Parts: sequence; C-alpha cells; structure tokens
Amino acid sequence: MSVTHPLGSDVRERADALGRQDPELAEILLAERHRQATTLQLCAAENFASPAVLAALASPLANKYAEGYPGARHHGGCAYADAAERLAVDRAKALFGAEHANVQPHSGSSAVLAAYAALLRPGDTVLALGLPHGGHLTHGSPANFSGRWFDFVGYGVDAETGLVDHDQVRALARSHRPKAIVCGSIAYPRHLDHAFFREVADEVGAYLIADAAHTVGLVAGGAAPSPVPYADIVCATTHKVLRGPRGGMILCGAGLAERVDRAVFPFSQAGAQMNAVAAKAVAFHEAAAPAFAAYARQVVANARVLAGALAAEGLAVTTGGTDTHLITADPAPLGVDGREARGRLAAAGTVLDCCALPHGGARGLRLGTAALTTQGMGEAEMRTVAELLGRVLRGETPVARARAEAEELARAFAPYP
Ligand SMILES: Cc1ncc(COP(=O)(O)O)c(C=O)c1O
Repeated sequence: MSVTHPLGSDVRERADALGRQDPELAEILLAERHRQATTLQLCAAENFASPAVLAALASPLANKYAEGYPGARHHGGCAYADAAERLAVDRAKALFGAEHANVQPHSGSSAVLAAYAALLRPGDTVLALGLPHGGHLTHGSPANFSGRWFDFVGYGVDAETGLVDHDQVRALARSHRPKAIVCGSIAYPRHLDHAFFREVADEVGAYLIADAAHTVGLVAGGAAPSPVPYADIVCATTHKVLRGPRGGMILCGAGLAERVDRAVFPFSQAGAQMNAVAAKAVAFHEAAAPAFAAYARQVVANARVLAGALAAEGLAVTTGGTDTHLITADPAPLGVDGREARGRLAAAGTVLDCCALPHGGARGLRLGTAALTTQGMGEAEMRTVAELLGRVLRGETPVARARAEAEELARAFAPYP
C-alpha cells in the first residue's frame, strides 16, 4: 500500500536548475535525498511528505508576504494567499471537526507558545508531563521560554506500568491549582484519556491544552481518539504522522478564536510562510481521503508488531507496547545504553532517536513507523527491521553488512520512486 509517488518532471527540472546555479548546495541536497532513500527512517517525528506537498512548498507563494488574516492583511496582492489560507483553514476545521483553526504557526513550538499567550500570563502555574517522563521542551524546560516564563509543575508516569499516573495528576492539580493543564508528549506510546484531563481541569478551574503534535495525524486518520471535543486549545505539528510540511496548527472553539488568532499574529509571529500554509492545505486534503485512514491504521498495526518484535529481541519496551506510531524502549538488557545504541544503529543505516527514560535517568530509544509505512512497508517488514536492530545491538552482524541489509530494504520501498 505504498502511498508515495514519483517526483514529477517539474521537480527534476528545478533540481537541474539548482544543480547548474549552485552545484555545492545541490550536491548536499542530493546527498540528503540519497541518505533518506538508502537508510531506514525510524525517527518517530519524521515522515515523507508527498510530491504535491513538496510542490506547494516550492511554489511562488514562498515569495509572498501576508501579515494578518484573509481579508485583513497588511500587504497588497494577497488575493491568492487569502484563498490558500481559507482553504487550509476550512480543510483543517472539517478534518478535525473544530470550530476554529489557525494554520499560521511556523512550528509545533510556535503553536504551543501561542496557546500559552492566548490563555496565560507570565508567572502562571501550568501542570504538564515532566520532561524526563515524555514532556516536550515547551512543557516547562528551564532552557525554553516555557520554563522561564511560567511556573511548571510536572506530573509523571507510573514506575511499574509506564502509564500516566492519574492519581498524581489529580493530586497535583488540587494542590497547585494551575491556570492550565497540558496533556501531550514526545514519547508517550499510549492513548491519553482526554476525558480524564478535562474532568480534572474543570474541577480546579484550569484550561486544558492538548499538545497533539505527535498524534494529530492518527486523529486525522481515525486511528487515535481526538482531543478536540475535550481541550480548550489543541496544538499540533503538521509534519509528523500527518505527513504535511514542517509547521504548526492550532484548533479551538469559536469562543477562543479571536484570542488564539491574536496570540499567533501579531503577538508571537509576523508574516506567515504562505507556501507552508498552502502545503498544509494539500496535506489536510490528502488526510481526508480514505487512503489516509488506511495509512493511519497501518502505522499503528506496524508499530504494534514492531514493539512486539523488539521485545522478543530482548529490549524492554515501555508500557509493554503501543497504541500509536511511537515506541520507546530500553536497550539495557542487551548490554548497551540508549546513546550508544543510537550511534551503532545509525552506523548500520537504521536512524532513530534517544529519549529520556522516566525513573532512573537512563537514556532509551524512541522510534516510530510513520515513514516506513508511507514507503509501503507492512508487518512482515517490521519483523525484519526488529530482527536487524536486535542483531546490530547485540553486535552479531558487522556494521557494513547490516547497512547493506537496511539499504536493500529501503530501496525495495523507495520513498520517491
Ligand atoms: C509534543 C510536542 N510538542 C511540540 C513539538 C514542537 O514541534 P516543532 O519541533 O515543530 O517546534 C513537538 C516536536 O517534536 C512535540 O513532539
């Protein structure tokens, strides 16, 4: 069920033009294309955007300034920018059943910043998943604006089950009375109970912000529960499972629409990247098609098989499996820590991330199936991948041979044939 398509002749012509004008940079881009086509992309946050999405990104809308919103811009000549943004907004609202959508955030972090700006004042208390437990930088890292400007309290996952500790969430909410509760994670492999978070938020009079950066693509395809009916604001990225351009998006009810829009522009951004907005419109259209629902289901089916096969290889899979595209695992039972494992696997042509492991401070591995599934791989290939990872981590297969195996598999499922 490959969902990628050949790159069109226009793309090749553009590449040729770049090659003639700037061979140095063209060579770098060709090398990256080769890397993506000949190694296995297991980073949970990555995917292969379609040639249509890439075409919108490389369109002349990249040249257009369009500060403001459709019909109320600070620049002339915005008719087509307006049309593209209206289409993106309408498609996002229809896809997610939201009353309002803002498609301008440059990134997932920009979307979270705007959500906080819409609802909070500096110094407010916010309850979010702690960083060692899978929270994102924007959920209170001291190195990030979030930790600098707000007073974050972190909840965690249970040491035994790896599941969000609902008792702790409720207790911390009661004792700290946060202005907002954030649910969402970079590494949590299970569905979040949005109804639970809504109930706790209502009990303590807090806003509920869902950071669905990772899961929004599964939500679009009907393969994960939607936070939209529960959260005051949903933040998301458009480039992970959703398979659009790199960027962010915010969904909310009509009552917060104006505050959210003003929090994006003019509070935290000026001119939106209109080519990216157009590319988001393309991605929403693709995600509304039945083929995307089949894709999202296959992403989860693949992740479940991969998680089971990795456990059979001896890795300690967090929570014992996954409900989503994402798996976290501790390779320690194979005698290697997360950082060393990531390096060995990268050398063997299998690209994935490290992640924090809660309780104990060790580093683990985080991987996902969005990209491999876009390439058309299924459960059989997931077993092959797990077996290859296991052999590399145990040092049973020389790196060069493992790399050749990874390349053979990647080439059999070319992302852009
Ligand atoms: C939960 C969560 N929030 C926010 C972000 C930030 O997205 P970006 O890297 O586009 O700023 C990410 C990215 O991985 C994420 O996983």
